[in-house]
Amino acid sequence: MADGTPARVPSGAPDPSEYDHDGLDLYVQRQFAREDDALRRTRERAAAAGMPGIQLPPATARALQLLVRAAGVRRAVEVGTLAGYSAIWIARALPEGGKLVTLEINPEHAAVARRSLKDAGVADRVEVRVGDGAGLLDALGPDGSFDLVFVDADKERYTQYLGEAARLLRPGGLFVADNAFWKGQVLDPGGDEMAAVLDRFNRKVAADRRFDATILPVGDGLLVGVRR
Ligand code: DHB
Ligand code: MG
Repeated sequence: MADGTPARVPSGAPDPSEYDHDGLDLYVQRQFAREDDALRRTRERAAAAGMPGIQLPPATARALQLLVRAAGVRRAVEVGTLAGYSAIWIARALPEGGKLVTLEINPEHAAVARRSLKDAGVADRVEVRVGDGAGLLDALGPDGSFDLVFVDADKERYTQYLGEAARLLRPGGLFVADNAFWKGQVLDPGGDEMAAVLDRFNRKVAADRRFDATILPVGDGLLVGVRR
């Protein structure tokens, strides 16, 4: 690398290519991220409604949930409710009196999500707002009053959501984004437009002095930034 760091810094660990990442993700899921009936029904309800099965994998959802716990998140916002699957994981980690506002552009998806949130017993802690994510984020406030902004929506607007998160988060608050690896293709975006979008976004976050960030290599890559 240009700064003199070798491509792979020597360490005691074996070459990462020797790891069975998929098998290990399932291992984590089995040991730490088992779904209960409400989460299983949430996926089934989504499938029955013809919605895409692109909710967070359980091991990724569990990592997000523990970030919520570790950071003492009380006020959270999510962009991209879809079927409400990740909202349930987040809501279950909120303390008494905690609140999640989740934003969804598709009113039919929002309706399916509301049923699952109720079924999971977290409807009192979660508010689903229907509309354009950027506009709804812009209406939230006051500045610095949120502990978590989680984005898992239209990738082309992640950078815009990052700007809103910088405004909404208190110092120490978390910005989290799903799909930072874009199916592993950010390594070599080539002609894949979405991979190029995520690669540009990751580089932007890395250079953003408002956040200390990294990508946790769980699932499709969970980008985490701590607001300075
Ligand atoms: C896909 C997966 C995601 O997690 C997402 O947020 C959007 C799309 C996909 O696999 O296409
Ligand atoms: Mg996603």
